[in-house]
Amino acid sequence: MKKTAILAIESSCDDTSAAVIIDGILCSNVIASQKVHEEFGGVVPELASRAHQQNILPVIDTALRRSGITAQDLSAIAFTRGPGLLGSLLVGTSFAKGLALALRIPLVDVNHLQGHVLAHFVEPSEELKAATPSLLPFVGKQLPHPSYPFLCLLVSGGNSQIVLVKAYNDMQILGQTIDDAAGEAFDKCAKVLGLPYPGGPWIDKLAKLGDATKYPFAKPNIPGYDYSFSGLKTSFLYTLRDMLREHNLETIDQLAEVVPNLREDMCASLQTTVVDILMRKLRKAAKDLNINQVAVAGGVSANSALRQAFLDYGKRYHAEAFIPPFSFTTDNAAMICQAGYFKYLDKDFCAIDEVPFAKTTI
Ligand code: KG4
Repeated sequence: MKKTAILAIESSCDDTSAAVIIDGILCSNVIASQKVHEEFGGVVPELASRAHQQNILPVIDTALRRSGITAQDLSAIAFTRGPGLLGSLLVGTSFAKGLALALRIPLVDVNHLQGHVLAHFVEPSEELKAATPSLLPFVGKQLPHPSYPFLCLLVSGGNSQIVLVKAYNDMQILGQTIDDAAGEAFDKCAKVLGLPYPGGPWIDKLAKLGDATKYPFAKPNIPGYDYSFSGLKTSFLYTLRDMLREHNLETIDQLAEVVPNLREDMCASLQTTVVDILMRKLRKAAKDLNINQVAVAGGVSANSALRQAFLDYGKRYHAEAFIPPFSFTTDNAAMICQAGYFKYLDKDFCAIDEVPFAKTTI
């Protein structure tokens, strides 16, 4: 019997990625990250689209080659339709359409946010596990997969949401940020400290060397399951402003010379506050809904303190806590492929004239 082989293309922001799933098993996941944005301190949309144009063919070619199949063996093409940067999405969408038309196979559109959640169902091949550092602990065993219903904390550069996942195609947002996302707060605060872009991983790194109790930042008081991070950002900024005034200095570099461990302590205090804000609402939702399976997804799920908080939560509340391997935290096509595979099995295809969307919810 012919195998079911799905190729997925992810190009929503600044990572060009392609992955192949054959009969439910992830055989390849190739990611080309764009370094061009580093000097600008953030993603430049125009440059991102151009870099996708350069990367897309070699990335897809490598993903197919590593999976051991050719384009002719494919059953469908899945692609990220949104949300994301429109110019970036257009590159992946147009390529997916062209390839699906040429091969006369179905096209499957995937919501990027649902993809992040469904990263928890990816099952890589043994070869891929052995070749990927973050998957090595799973060689010879299955990755843990949640069962429905579960709660997913979806935290990325653009989103902070608590999602009730009832099925692969039935997700309900219980709460979300009313202003900045957690990743955005990390990135903006890192920028103020003069750290490179993206700042999240730098905050994580420096926080390990700092005192998390040194600077008590403001925590929001928002009803329900919604989040807010703009007050924390302001609190962070004002703490630095006040210290600069106190020492009669102008720059963070000057301040770092007179305040020992400034950046490390600021990072540790910020990180612990963000994690606390995120976990409080998740705990509340899990308690109110009596759900004992919680998962974390999105780029910020790479954060070591958040991952530890999930492990602690699992132990303390006798809950099952699902943390994705590092390779499936930031943008990747494996998660899009998994979502596409589920949709393909349900024959949930996309018309050739569908267009990408920059903004959408789950
Ligand atoms: O999901 P993602 O790759 O991109 C989208 O927003 O779609 O998330 C990127 C975000 C950035 O804000 C980045 O700073 C953050 O994830 N991030 C981290 C860490 N690694 C990535 N934040 C905190 N700690 C990390 N280790």
